[in-house]
Amino acid sequence: MSDIKRVAVLAGDGIGPEVMDEALAVLAVVCEKYSRRINFAQALVGGAAYIKTASHFPDETREICAKSDAILFGSVGGPVSQSHLPQWKGCETNSILAVRKAFKLAANFRPTVVYPSMSSGSPLKAEVIGEGVDLIIIRELQGDVYFGEHTFFESQGERCARDSGEYTESQIRFVAQTAFNAARKRRNVVHSVDKANVLHMSKLWREVVSEVHQSEFSDVKLEHVLVDNCALQLVKNPAQFDVIVAPNLFGDILSDLAAALPGSLGLSPSASFNSEGFALYEPSGGSAPDIAGKGIANPIAQILSAAMMLRYSFGWDAEANAIESAVSSALADGYRTADLASPNHKASTTREMGDAIRARIS
Ligand code: IPM
Ligand code: MN
Repeated sequence: MSDIKRVAVLAGDGIGPEVMDEALAVLAVVCEKYSRRINFAQALVGGAAYIKTASHFPDETREICAKSDAILFGSVGGPVSQSHLPQWKGCETNSILAVRKAFKLAANFRPTVVYPSMSSGSPLKAEVIGEGVDLIIIRELQGDVYFGEHTFFESQGERCARDSGEYTESQIRFVAQTAFNAARKRRNVVHSVDKANVLHMSKLWREVVSEVHQSEFSDVKLEHVLVDNCALQLVKNPAQFDVIVAPNLFGDILSDLAAALPGSLGLSPSASFNSEGFALYEPSGGSAPDIAGKGIANPIAQILSAAMMLRYSFGWDAEANAIESAVSSALADGYRTADLASPNHKASTTREMGDAIRARIS
């Protein structure tokens, strides 16, 4: 057990630092209990980095990440009303998108689980939730309109804007293989999302996903689904899904929709991998500047992201399970942060939720 893991901790902006504190405290309890060692290196990112270094992703942060075994990320970005200020202008593009590019993080895992104890908190009726929901969206992270050219221009006296998007077959192949491999360890079904009735990127997507399926994964059931229909199906019958694989933009949108199923975006973790298995772990939700600093944010997405890191980057399954069981038992015992609490229920603070989870580990 002398193996010491190195983790770059990039808490970022908004609620990032306060939920990160809870996740780090959970990791400390797990390491103590299982005699594990992790060295944490804190590094600046986002608006928090900008005010100190005039960069949203300073070189020093990049170097700390490069020397680590994994990145634990909080969230970045400021209030929309302040997006013109230098601290926030281009913040998301220059920070989280730049980190994803720098480390070639290409496949983003966003699991959604509706815990049985939580089905009353779901915006969907109990009969729609059925036996519970357990799905994972695997989102491509390197291509699409995210990384094409973005321009404002004028034409015939009008203001115009253009965003170009691109997919290469190798980008699609990698995320397709990742999704089929994930499905083999689950219920063996992949729904591939596209808009092949309109977009060329989607026609290529469908073709390459089908080829990968035929040549390497014909034992897995594959369904192609148009993105608009997928959004509808996720609300009407989410239990039909196991693994959903989607291009960058559609995956972004669908994963927020899926994250609403348990009743709050504050429960959904995520992991982003490159082809060498190096990964970044972050909540699916954002920096929530409206509630930042109040100590009321839900730390669960950050804590579950840390659990994913233990499982996928370090192979520490028992430790990851311990965190996940502690989260579900804290929820089953009625702990609710403000995002989850019903009006007649006293909400737990960020710290109280963290304490409840830690108490259930040790
Ligand atoms: C996410 C976020 C980011 C994205 C933003 C902050 C650029 O919404 O991780 O889902 O669109 O990828
Ligand atoms: Mn998003």
